[in-house]
Amino acid sequence: MKNLHPIGVFDSGYGGLTVLAELQNKLPEYDFLYLGDNARAPYGTRSFETVYEFTLQAVTYLFEQNCELVILACNTASAKALRTIQQNDLPIKFPGKRVLGVIRPSAESVDTFTKSKHVGILATEGTVKSDSYRIEINKLFPEIVVTQHACPLWVPLIENNKYQTAGGKALILEDLTNLLEKDSKIDAIILGCTHYPIVQEFIQAHVPKSIQVISQGQIVADKLEDYLQRHSEIDSKLTKNGMSRYLTTDSASTFDEDASRILGKIVHSEHLKLI
Ligand code: DGL
Repeated sequence: MKNLHPIGVFDSGYGGLTVLAELQNKLPEYDFLYLGDNARAPYGTRSFETVYEFTLQAVTYLFEQNCELVILACNTASAKALRTIQQNDLPIKFPGKRVLGVIRPSAESVDTFTKSKHVGILATEGTVKSDSYRIEINKLFPEIVVTQHACPLWVPLIENNKYQTAGGKALILEDLTNLLEKDSKIDAIILGCTHYPIVQEFIQAHVPKSIQVISQGQIVADKLEDYLQRHSEIDSKLTKNGMSRYLTTDSASTFDEDASRILGKIVHSEHLKLI
């Protein structure tokens, strides 16, 4: 990807692929560089400092590969690292480059999905503890009641391809029940972790029909298209050859197998030693 200036897409592992798929769909002419830190996933139970440190390493690497813009396709990194990177690191180390997250775009869109004004959030422990969803949603829509539930085992289940086992399914159902017991008026559930769309069909099939289950990929893709239209100074630096490259900090062959299943197309990744 020499001479390319791709859009960087970062996640702790496979989850960001659910966002990348929608970005590739919406913006097929752009070049993308995906980085999954699979070797260190999950991030959801790690401290603020660790998530910030790992995320900054990844973002720095993507900038060194000529990415002008990096999407943190990870709610945990968006909740714990985005603001510090935007405010402290970018102006000094990478002026002119941009990092965007996935929580704000989802919060901006949430009112279109709920009639009852009761919204549920399923996310990692880190994202729930940060309270970012409630804060961002209530800044824009103070009338919306936000109920959050942490699902700390879902990312390990998905990263290890165990989510279709009987035990995996039982665990997902238990967390769903716990969320709905906390607030029976919920009519929209945001999958506030980019790994979760991988189990979206299963979730949708096990909640009442009146509840809409929302994944972030399409929302983020729509918002990015709009952002690029408004920021020609960034857009003009991005190359547009429709190429995508995939990097993983763990085994490339395992990544290829799982990513090909998730994206529904053949993926050839490269192993990256990030530190
Ligand atoms: N996909 C990440 C997110 O959206 C998962 C974080 C993790 O590795 O626990 O939060």
